[in-house]
Amino acid sequence: MPTPVIIDTDPGIDDAVAIFCALAAPSLRVLGLTTVAGNIGLETTTANAGRILSLAGVDVPVIRGAAGPLARAGFAATDVHGNDGLGGVAMPDPVAAPRDGAVDWMADTLTSHPEGAVDLFTLGPLTNLAGLLERRPEAARRLRRVIAMGGAVDERGNVSPRAEFNFAADPEAAERVLAAGLPLTLIPLDVTRRVRARPADTAALRAGPRPEARAAGALIDAYFLTTRGGDSRPLHDPCVVLLAEAPQLFRCETRLLDVDTSDGPDAGALGPGPHQVTVAMGVDGAAALDLLMRRLMGQ
Ligand code: RIB
Ligand code: CA
Repeated sequence: MPTPVIIDTDPGIDDAVAIFCALAAPSLRVLGLTTVAGNIGLETTTANAGRILSLAGVDVPVIRGAAGPLARAGFAATDVHGNDGLGGVAMPDPVAAPRDGAVDWMADTLTSHPEGAVDLFTLGPLTNLAGLLERRPEAARRLRRVIAMGGAVDERGNVSPRAEFNFAADPEAAERVLAAGLPLTLIPLDVTRRVRARPADTAALRAGPRPEARAAGALIDAYFLTTRGGDSRPLHDPCVVLLAEAPQLFRCETRLLDVDTSDGPDAGALGPGPHQVTVAMGVDGAAALDLLMRRLMGQ
């Protein structure tokens, strides 16, 4: 039986690739996309979530979440994801209007499913999950597990020398989530930078049989254009789906961590702390990319 999953997302080029992969995964049943401000503002991440579902021809709800971080000014990543959040890649209009109230929708969905049945994948800042913990903790406890892309342990950050974007965008939310004792697996840059697409991969996708493959190829090519140097690009958010589908490709450790919630340059950085967290610290990058390519190609 496929696992029912909620995907919390700020699409976002790599979010879109991750969602296409999840929609094609036989082990998963996507219940809906909750959106959060992150790579770009909430209205755009929400519209992009609808565009992704429209292109894939999948009818599940999109539910607006937080328009900004818990306790500080947000910042976007349009330099990487473009002013439309999808690298300028043409995508169809959303079929259905989004709903409001991501936290209550998450809670109601968790309550209407058996306890321990539903997974949550987070691909952006953790503001919505922190809101669920704050406002509907009894529902949060019904989660089977959370797999979150975020943080950097031994790897350099991508916002500052030690901070990664999803955690730097809302450090208070990240700290709240790590402190909650959820069944959480964190996938940091230490792993996601080792799952990389090359031009040959995007060429194969763009020649692929499915619109999702062609769109994913175009999205990753856009990523090449918006970021500098190198002959490959890391696929951060898809690693969340790949760990769910093929955990044997990843090596996880238990770490004691916390999140820098100062106003300093490393706000959002992971460091030694009291929170015990399962962290993916290794991956067979080639096998993970191969699985992603097969899912996007519909295999
Ligand atoms: O640091 C990578 C993360 O930040 C990814 O989720 C990407 O989409 C951006 O949101
Ligand atoms: Ca993201």
